[in-house]
Amino acid sequence: MVQQADIILETRGLRKVFDTGGEGLEVLKGVDLVVRAGELVAIMGESGVGKSTLLHLLGTLDLPTAGQLRIADTDVLNLGDQALSRFRNRHIGFVFQFHYLLPEFTALENVLLPARVAGVDRRQEALELMDSVGLADRLHHRPGALSGGECQRVAMVRALVTEPLVVLADEPSGNLDEATSASLHQLLAGLARERGQAFVVMTHDRTLAQSMDRRGRIEAGVLHMEDGVI
Ligand SMILES: Nc1ncnc2c1ncn2[C@@H]1O[C@H](COP(=O)(O)OP(=O)(O)OP(=O)(O)O)[C@@H](O)[C@H]1O
Ligand SMILES: [Mg+2]
Repeated sequence: MVQQADIILETRGLRKVFDTGGEGLEVLKGVDLVVRAGELVAIMGESGVGKSTLLHLLGTLDLPTAGQLRIADTDVLNLGDQALSRFRNRHIGFVFQFHYLLPEFTALENVLLPARVAGVDRRQEALELMDSVGLADRLHHRPGALSGGECQRVAMVRALVTEPLVVLADEPSGNLDEATSASLHQLLAGLARERGQAFVVMTHDRTLAQSMDRRGRIEAGVLHMEDGVI
C-alpha cells in the first residue's frame, strides 16, 4: 500500500478558463492527477490541447479557475503571494519549452540563481550536476556561447539544483530536434528518479513517454491516464 505521505503532487478538478473577451476559452475542464515521490509521469496530447497550461497550473505560475492543488503537505492555492513565491522557488523545478537563461550570466551563475534567491549554498551540488550532464567544461560560458542543447541542459541543472520536490518539464520546441530533446528529457528524468523527485513531462514524444512510469493524454480538456488511475 502506498502511504499518503508518498504523494508529492495531488490535484483535483483543476479547471482553467482563459478570458478571451467573449464567453471565455475553457482549456481544462477538471483535471485529476496524483504523482508520488520518485514517480515519472508523461502527459501527451495534440498541440494546443492545454499541456503548457496544465504545467503552469501545477507549478503555481498561473491560478486555476477552479480546483485543488496540494504539493507535499501544502495546500498551495491558499498561500499568499509571497509565501507562494518562496514555496515555488524552493520546491518546484521547471524546464520550459524555451530555456530562459539570462544572457549576461555564465552557465554556472544561471544555475546558482534560484539557490541564491532561496538563500542556500548549492555550489557543490551544481558542480556535480553540471558534470553529470556533460557540462563540466562549460561552467563559465555565457548562453550565447553554448549550443541549444547545452543551454537546455544548463536549464535542467538549474531546475534540479535546489532539490525540488517536483520537477515539471515542457518539451522544448524550436531549435532542438526531437531526438535531442527526448534524450535530454531522459537524462533529466533519470536525475529526478535518482533523487526521488516527482517528475512530470509534457511531451509529444512516444518513446520518451514509454520510458516514464505512467502516461496520460489530454483530450477535450480532460486528462485520461492510460492505466485508468489518476
Ligand atoms: N493566456 C492565454 N490566453 C488565452 N488563451 C490561451 C492563453 N494561453 C494559452 N491559451 C490557449 O489555450 C490552449 C492551450 O494552450 P497550451 O499552450 O496549453 O497548449 P499545448 O498543449 O501546450 O500546445 P503545444 O503542444 O503546441 O505546446 C490554446 O488554444 C491556446 O491558444
Ligand atoms: Mg505547450
